[in-house]
Amino acid sequence: MDVTRVRKDFPLFQQEKPPIYLDSACQSLRPRQVIDAMNEYYCDFPACGGRSVHRLATEVSIRLDKAREDVASFVGVKDAECVMFTKNATESMNTVAKGLRLERGDRVVTTDMEHNSNHVPWVLLAKEKGLRRGYLSFQELEQGNLEPLKEELEKGVKLLSVVHTNNVDGSSIPLKKMVELAHDHGALVMADGCQYAPHNPLDLTDMDVDLYAWSMHKMLGPSGTGILYGKREVLEKVEPLVTGGGGVAITTYDTADILPIPERFEAGLQNYAGIIGSGAAVRYLQDIGMEEISEHERRLNVIATDGLMYVRNLSMLGPADPRRKGGIFSFNLKGMLPHDVAMILDEIASVLIRSGMHCVHPYFSSHGLEGCARASFYLYNTEEELRRFIESVKYVAEKFTD
Ligand SMILES: Cc1ncc(COP(=O)(O)O)c(C=O)c1O
Repeated sequence: MDVTRVRKDFPLFQQEKPPIYLDSACQSLRPRQVIDAMNEYYCDFPACGGRSVHRLATEVSIRLDKAREDVASFVGVKDAECVMFTKNATESMNTVAKGLRLERGDRVVTTDMEHNSNHVPWVLLAKEKGLRRGYLSFQELEQGNLEPLKEELEKGVKLLSVVHTNNVDGSSIPLKKMVELAHDHGALVMADGCQYAPHNPLDLTDMDVDLYAWSMHKMLGPSGTGILYGKREVLEKVEPLVTGGGGVAITTYDTADILPIPERFEAGLQNYAGIIGSGAAVRYLQDIGMEEISEHERRLNVIATDGLMYVRNLSMLGPADPRRKGGIFSFNLKGMLPHDVAMILDEIASVLIRSGMHCVHPYFSSHGLEGCARASFYLYNTEEELRRFIESVKYVAEKFTD
């Protein structure tokens, strides 16, 4: 992969002194191609889709269909109608959590490293509806131990809802094997792909997962764009979270005939520029190649790990092998708050990372940690940037820890 050429597509890197952006796990940068696609919508056909029949609206509808087909093909899905546009992964997962209409006593199993988006809805539903909960150790799953999952499944599980790659240390679970096991026990599986889909080749048909949620703004797409994929027969049983115009075939004063997927889940005027930009984002990634992107990130993670492994007072999170952590490198400096580390790195070296509990509070609290500093890499980061990151972290460790 030619990173120098890739960087030419990103406006931020055209600044005289661009910062070192290592926060793509929160939100990625966008290439010119995505920005242009959105501008084209706003300038050339700024109308609504799927409603009016005039030429501008027709153009929007054609572009929306194309974006849906491109996103579906990006994740190995043939039936593009199984791809729903949402405003983020949180909305995608809430749609499922609330729309599945689970009943008192139904059991939902997650891991101990879920993002709040796949945690809070279940906490609240357990209280409100009397759902039963089960937790699996993410670390054990990552290490290939599926025995605890089997034990949970034998208790009777309606839904296994798990994060595919966690956003704390970047490691992943063997989702395909887990899906197979869950299906053998009659459980549905939803996965949170926010940190997996942007960084790896993905074939949801082969994975056989029932529901998969992720956000486009972590994979070069516009802010406020997310996806919910689901098998047709599963999604048809999910009640929409939002209902109204565009989501119904016909209404009377007393009845509403909800449309099939995908309109069922896309009531109200949509984020047309965002959807069209999402299509441009997956086309951009596909042109470069997900294998190449994934390998590039792993190479950067090896550099970060080799460079920081023996730094005094620095502890790394997650598996020791950097190749099991994709594009995330998380660490703590003894005696320092993660937010202080992040602010100092920005101040002294224009290195931009994320710090805190990363919306995974229960995991940090149960491990007695205040959070961590997290550097996350993507296709546009260079080895030179990594060397500057390493040097600045070493400097902070030297200067600010005992
Ligand atoms: C693993 C994971 N799940 C869910 C989310 C929430 O995504 P969104 O902001 O698109 O709702 C994030 C965002 O950081 C994440 O990393």
